[in-house]
Amino acid sequence: MSKTVTLTDSANHSMQMPLVDGTIGPSCIDIGNLYKETGHFTYDPGFAATAACKSAITFIDGEKGVLLYRGYPIEQLAEKSSFLEVAYLLLEGELPTPEQFGAFEDAVTHHTMMHESLKSFLHGFRHDAHPMAMLCGSIASLSAFYHDTLNINDPAQRKLAAIRLIAKMPTIAAAAYRYSIGWPFRYPRNNLEYVTRFLHMMFEVPSEPLALNPVAAKALDLLFILHADHEQNASTSTVRLVGSTGANPYASVAAGIAALWGPAHGGANEAVLKMLAEIGDVKNVDKAVARAKDRNSGFRLMGFGHRVYKNFDPRAKIIREMTHKVLNELGVSDPLLDIALKLEEAALKDDYFVERKLYPNVDFYSGIIYKALRIPTDMFTVMFAIARTAGWISHWIEQHESDDARIGRPRQVYTGAVKRDYVGIERR
Ligand code: CMC
Repeated sequence: MSKTVTLTDSANHSMQMPLVDGTIGPSCIDIGNLYKETGHFTYDPGFAATAACKSAITFIDGEKGVLLYRGYPIEQLAEKSSFLEVAYLLLEGELPTPEQFGAFEDAVTHHTMMHESLKSFLHGFRHDAHPMAMLCGSIASLSAFYHDTLNINDPAQRKLAAIRLIAKMPTIAAAAYRYSIGWPFRYPRNNLEYVTRFLHMMFEVPSEPLALNPVAAKALDLLFILHADHEQNASTSTVRLVGSTGANPYASVAAGIAALWGPAHGGANEAVLKMLAEIGDVKNVDKAVARAKDRNSGFRLMGFGHRVYKNFDPRAKIIREMTHKVLNELGVSDPLLDIALKLEEAALKDDYFVERKLYPNVDFYSGIIYKALRIPTDMFTVMFAIARTAGWISHWIEQHESDDARIGRPRQVYTGAVKRDYVGIERR
């Protein structure tokens, strides 16, 4: 017999609601018939207790600090896999065989070029445009370049869009950066693997070869794995909401990029570095912690807290360890790391942060590594977007393969004026 839960309202009317179980995680109350049977909506600003879809891609247990991609623990993927293999896993649901991986890598590699006209599009931006603005606009514009393959009901066309997005995102991201510093765009070098190719497109100048430290490519690959997906976060939910209208994949992912940009989400990595630079010295850390606790200051510790993790963010644990290693191996010393360590130490023993279960999140240390890799601060969220593209497009495809997908259309608690009659302007 299927499980139910009984809800009783203040007038003592009871209703049996079915429970929906996943493979792991809490049961959900299926409220699909609630309004029809009771005349009530549910009210859940921020969707803190609402599952908007079924998904088999990523699982998080926020209390225990667990993150699984398709069932595989993030710690194992971080140690043993590569970003491109993780992208395949997210998209296809299984780790690839050598043949499957070869074919996937080949497909991605052969879609890395951007249309020449896209260069003119990028040249239309002001030289000081934020690269997230350029990325968002350029990715939305891809639907104008590939309008002959935008049939969202054709699985082959959906897969092609996924390959194109994963392949072109680094090319467009690097072009946005180079435009901002007045360097000529670099074509992708397809003899290189995904992350190394991206670093070449970022930093190679026409006049001399790039001496790339393999530690940099390894570190970036690991950061990309950690950022590749995170179930129904704000940007992925945005991709799904836009996707639910039947919008094309490029428009849907461009909306995800816009959502990611906000400082409460992916923009936090840029905000963390700015915050650490503003704190300026370990001796100012206590003042910063006090400010973050003062609601009236409007200041939060960026890179701290998470809607789901009420324990350490497992990605932050991995990045924290990696930060020391990468800085050592690259021979970089960064005073911002000392400030970050001191800030973490001070916050973790402060009652305010302990009571609210606020721990460092994925964005707290990632900026220090990006900085050591010479990636400028305003490109940090772009790095996140490159990696999250694998997750966004996997969710977009899953949504189109699901049999219970409907247009996303939340309701509201109306708090405006009740019905009233129009008054002519001469009588107001
Ligand atoms: N610094 C100081 N206080 C905080 C912080 C923080 N970073 N985060 C939450 N709080 C307090 C908040 O003021 C509230 O206190 P009270 O109960 O007294 O009103 C309590 O903790 C709960 O916060 P909330 O805003 O209700 O929590 P939320 O789940 O709505 O927000 C969050 C989650 C990540 C947006 C928030 O913790 C935050 O703004 N953090 C800083 C930005 C950040 O690092 N974002 C990256 C998130 S992880 C990666 C990603 O998603 O891209």
